[in-house]
Amino acid sequence: MAARHPFTDTDTADEAVRATCDDATICKRFATSKGYWKDSCLQYFVRNVGERKAPEINRGYYARVKGVNLLLDAFLEKTEGHCQVINLGAGLDTTFWRLKDENLLPRKFFEVDFPTVVARKIHSIKTKPPLSKPIIDVHSTDSLLLESHVLDSDRYCILGADLRDISSLDEKLKKFQLNPELPTLLLSECVLVYMTPSQSSNLVHWAAETFHTAMFINYEQVNMSDRFGQVMIENLQRRQCTLGGVELCQSLDSQKERFLKTGWEHANALDMMTVYGVLPQDDVAR
Ligand SMILES: C[S@@+](CC[C@H](N)C(=O)[O-])C[C@H]1O[C@@H](n2cnc3c(N)ncnc32)[C@H](O)[C@@H]1O
Repeated sequence: MAARHPFTDTDTADEAVRATCDDATICKRFATSKGYWKDSCLQYFVRNVGERKAPEINRGYYARVKGVNLLLDAFLEKTEGHCQVINLGAGLDTTFWRLKDENLLPRKFFEVDFPTVVARKIHSIKTKPPLSKPIIDVHSTDSLLLESHVLDSDRYCILGADLRDISSLDEKLKKFQLNPELPTLLLSECVLVYMTPSQSSNLVHWAAETFHTAMFINYEQVNMSDRFGQVMIENLQRRQCTLGGVELCQSLDSQKERFLKTGWEHANALDMMTVYGVLPQDDVAR
């Protein structure tokens, strides 16, 4: 019987995908240090401000964060908070603390990522009072489950799961009181592109068939055949990180199609120049 090497190619590839959550956090940390938007929690996930980033990167992150927040907040307002949010591939995202701070929390806010990423996030929460206090504030401590790979409380749940394994994902979310009857917002920011088209289709299809009423916000690449896209693919490949889902990121139409083919009734797609144009223009001017 042959012994299995502890690190397979899949392990290496998944590790490279997991590392992308640091890229996002480092870039957000720099942009917030320059005042593009406010986020007092990022410093607890990335201590140093780090290397200077080009203004295009800062503005790109600004448009990404503000654009996603605009849609998320509209959903929360429409449902008057009588809803749940599931951030798929959440990484070190800090939205829970913003919503808590602005008194906009949904009934329950779920986050899913690989168990090792989740363990890092939970470790930071456990060891940094500015992160843990707002969680304890909303919950009596007896309803708080805080383990290395799962945090669960009445309003916030972070759990480790592989988004390519739908039955396990579904089982874990239901174990922590996911409610298919509640209006549900699913969110994925730069996540589906790391999965093959059939893996991401299974996920998007699961979302379409599981919830009575749902909206899915997907932020990710388009125009991946142009020079900019090709350079991005090459840069990530150099880090052993393959964009397995790139063929669904060719255009706004291919992005819409991925939803319309998997059970969603409507889909709309905007490029980021359009989003930049609809953000509050006094803030953009600032
Ligand atoms: C580019 S990061 C984005 C993180 C976060 N959404 C943000 O915008 O800051 C991609 C995230 O997706 C997660 N991810 C990718 N594929 C995954 C999978 N199959 N299962 C769980 N998480 C996954 C990675 O671990 C990583 O945290």
